[in-house]
Amino acid sequence: MAQRYPDIISTTFDLTPVAPFATEYVEHAGVADRVRVVSGDFFTDAWPRADVIVLGDVLHDWDEERKQVLIDSAFAALNDGASSSPSRTSSTTIAGRTPSGH
Ligand SMILES: C[S@@+](CC[C@H](N)C(=O)[O-])C[C@H]1O[C@@H](n2cnc3c(N)ncnc32)[C@H](O)[C@@H]1O
Repeated sequence: MAQRYPDIISTTFDLTPVAPFATEYVEHAGVADRVRVVSGDFFTDAWPRADVIVLGDVLHDWDEERKQVLIDSAFAALNDGASSSPSRTSSTTIAGRTPSGH
């Protein structure tokens, strides 16, 4: 997504052990200047705030109750006027924010 949309500034959010792999991937993709790798547990930690949140290939792993927790957390982490979208992209859970803040 970061490669395709050069104006997007984004954040990956995944468990701590994933960070080295995410960092390597982002650097290899040449987008390290625009993609921040953040570690956390999406059930217990604060989510990075964003204008767009993509739950990439995530919701299917969880039962209905936990899906709802994730969706609620995603909406709570959105900036005013932003949106959230469950998705089957190849991305990690992404919080994307454009440079202009829109
Ligand atoms: C099926 S993979 C999808 C990965 C990536 N989004 C993609 O589309 O290729 C599910 C991801 O959820 C992450 N995950 C599982 N439990 C998590 C949690 N409690 N907090 C944050 N991430 C978690 C896993 O580490 C894994 O990277």
